[in-house]
Amino acid sequence: MLIQSVYTSAAIQPMPKSKLYKILVDSRVSNKLADVTGLLVYVDGQFLQVLEGEQEVVAALLEKISKDRRHNDVKVVYKTGIERRTFNAWQMAYVSPSAKELATWAGLSNTTTLESTLKTLENEPNRFPSMLSKLLLAIPEKDLEPE
Ligand SMILES: Cc1cc2nc3c(=O)[nH]c(=O)nc-3n(C[C@H](O)[C@H](O)[C@H](O)COP(=O)(O)O)c2cc1C
Repeated sequence: MLIQSVYTSAAIQPMPKSKLYKILVDSRVSNKLADVTGLLVYVDGQFLQVLEGEQEVVAALLEKISKDRRHNDVKVVYKTGIERRTFNAWQMAYVSPSAKELATWAGLSNTTTLESTLKTLENEPNRFPSMLSKLLLAIPEKDLEPE
């Protein structure tokens, strides 16, 4: 079964572009081989990552990712079976919005802090489908480049 899973985590230190770039490039190669698609969002030292693929593949990847020392506090906040992938064209897309933009996309126009957006999302997972559609539209044409 195809699933879509979303987790949030905290970078152990602010990530320079070069380190983010390495995570992305490495991920894209292995995700291609594992038929995983998704999106990595980085805002103010926090990650939110969408992983799509076969259930067992995504579960094994999440297990590996949660042991990665570049971040901690990995929390799965959303998981659903899907018929079609949202990020089907991306082995791992990348978006780095402001906290305010992310709040708006989550439908939280009065929220400005990332912390409160993530907390609300955790408690109200029904916000994910529309937020993920907005993130899909926000994927820039120009990809992250190493510094
Ligand atoms: C924020 C973040 C996102 C990651 N995303 C992926 C990913 O989408 N796919 C992937 O294979 N590895 C990803 N990784 C890397 C894995 O944690 C792990 O280092 C990688 O799968 C290599 O595992 P291996 O040493 O067993 O080959 C990510 C790491 C971090 C910190």
